[in-house]
Amino acid sequence: MLVGGQGTRLRPLTMSAPKPMLPVAGVPVTAHMLARARDAGIDRVVLATSYRAEVFEQYFGDGSAHGLRLEYVTETEPMGTGGAIRNVAERLCGDPDEPVVIFNGDILSGLDIEALVSRHTETDAAVTLHLTKVVDPRAFGVVPTDDAGRVTAFLEKTPDPPTNLINAGCYVFRRSVIDAIPVGRPVSVERETFPGLLATGTPVFGYPDSTYWLDLGTPAAFVQGSRDLVTGRMVSSALPGPIGDCLVLEGAVVAPDAKISGGATVGAGARVGAGAAVDGAVLFDGAVIEAGASVRDSVIGRAAVVGAGVVLDGVVVGDGAVVEAGNELRAGARVFPGARLAAGAVRFSSDRT
Ligand code: GTP
Repeated sequence: MLVGGQGTRLRPLTMSAPKPMLPVAGVPVTAHMLARARDAGIDRVVLATSYRAEVFEQYFGDGSAHGLRLEYVTETEPMGTGGAIRNVAERLCGDPDEPVVIFNGDILSGLDIEALVSRHTETDAAVTLHLTKVVDPRAFGVVPTDDAGRVTAFLEKTPDPPTNLINAGCYVFRRSVIDAIPVGRPVSVERETFPGLLATGTPVFGYPDSTYWLDLGTPAAFVQGSRDLVTGRMVSSALPGPIGDCLVLEGAVVAPDAKISGGATVGAGARVGAGAAVDGAVLFDGAVIEAGASVRDSVIGRAAVVGAGVVLDGVVVGDGAVVEAGNELRAGARVFPGARLAAGAVRFSSDRT
């Protein structure tokens, strides 16, 4: 599983934690995907780490608490997606023809992993990619296939996509394909390995499916994914509570007349004051929402404080930041970790702070 990216699109949240470790519906994104892998019968996973590598092992340890055997391989320099896969090759136990399942650690997906592996084996492909349909594929890797499902091209972030099927960030590789990735330099599977395989006529197949899929790369998607887990639209056995209209974690204190709705998560030890409204938002552990504040579709970092009567909609507040009373921030606004926004400084803004 690839978990070493910098997560630039999710800044400033990723300044204090790597994206795959950010809590979505109460536990790291990676925990949800590891649970799915375990539920599909996978018992050993190697995490390819780079950025903030240490936090993964601190949280997951040897994996036994998650029903898995976990190992870690850390790049000294970020090697890109292909380089990271190559870097774990010596930890793989199988024969050269054995299938190896590879996940991006920042995707929420209801994919039937066993069905993906079966398709890979049936077609005797070198690589099989999970493909998903999105409305606007221009920001993704577009993957057209022929009638038999064989991939005909890889078009990374193309302005004029010929299909809505995109690379969903989960693959099965024949082990020998991993061994052939160049060593010691950054490699992108999307831009180098996959196009290279096509150029040599190597069979690469797509496996389209229409189950739940979301790339948690942006703040809006992050909030959406958390809501979908809390409300049960995306099923995860790692959800730390029952499915419902909100998820309130241990030690959180919510005033009786505060309203938590829309699949919002209130992190451990967080506080929500009298008359406050939290709708579809994600409050990390220890966040404080003071009386009468309204927080919608936003992410509030660890121990950040949202002052009385503040209005936030589509905003990211970094860890430990303070938004004092009387501010109103709207879509796209970011408050950096530890920053303090003085009382009444911003009304209806999408500027960076
Ligand atoms: P952005 O900077 O916002 O694009 O996010 P990102 O850095 O996570 O990049 P991207 O979403 O394209 O990465 C896809 C997956 O590969 C994620 O799970 C990343 O954690 C992982 N990844 C990306 N680059 C590297 C790398 O150099 N090394 C490792 N080990 N993983 C990587």
